[in-house]
Amino acid sequence: MLIDLHCHILPGVDDGALDLLSCLDMANTAVGAGINHLFATPHHMNGQYVNKKEEIIFQVAEVNRHLQQEKIPLTIYPGQEVRIHQHLMISLEMEEVLTLNNREKFLLIELPSGYVPIYTHEVVYELLMKGITPIIVHPERNRELIEDPQLLYQLVQQGALTQLTSGSVIGLFGKKIKSFSEKIIEHHQAHFIATDAHNVGSRGFTLQEAYETITKTYGIDRTLYFKENAQTVLDGQSISIKQPMPIRKKLLGIF
Ligand SMILES: [Fe+2]
Repeated sequence: MLIDLHCHILPGVDDGALDLLSCLDMANTAVGAGINHLFATPHHMNGQYVNKKEEIIFQVAEVNRHLQQEKIPLTIYPGQEVRIHQHLMISLEMEEVLTLNNREKFLLIELPSGYVPIYTHEVVYELLMKGITPIIVHPERNRELIEDPQLLYQLVQQGALTQLTSGSVIGLFGKKIKSFSEKIIEHHQAHFIATDAHNVGSRGFTLQEAYETITKTYGIDRTLYFKENAQTVLDGQSISIKQPMPIRKKLLGIF
């Protein structure tokens, strides 16, 4: 049984499932890929989509009803992928932001793909002060973090957690992103693997494949660590964190 913490399965709300039919198609595919519990995490405030908390909770209940009708053995939980912005704490107070399963314990945070905003540390700090642990999604795909891995180390040191995308781990986004994913895992800066599935095609449910790759490279214990962390989030408990190590960039050609 696998738990997926991040995907875009809700019908017609973002760039994920187009309609109920494709939503149910994704659900069947997820089940076929061994996933039985899944967080629906639509984009929030990424410049294109809003998807407020109450709307997502309502939609998730609707989809769960359809899943039961269709006898698809999958349970969906509400969540949100929040694009970081300076007034995130205000959005949280205004009940627009939705933590994972609305438990006020974990929040999926997305950075812009090209850089790390200057106020990121402040947002992480404010969330932690409120008892909410931010989970930075797909840091391995952020251009500035790839260039300067020290920035990610600092965020993890500060108490942020990270979620790598399964497709990155198995090389679907290219060699550079795969190799950075490996570095993040090796240096104990990764806490979760999730699919970030948008469809049943190119951005599908590759969680099992990613775990198999991780087991082959790092041993079964590392896979179990990621699986246990996902279970802990589902249960609303606190996760155990391994001490992160800094990633040193190779100074090729200098010495
Ligand atoms: Fe996503």
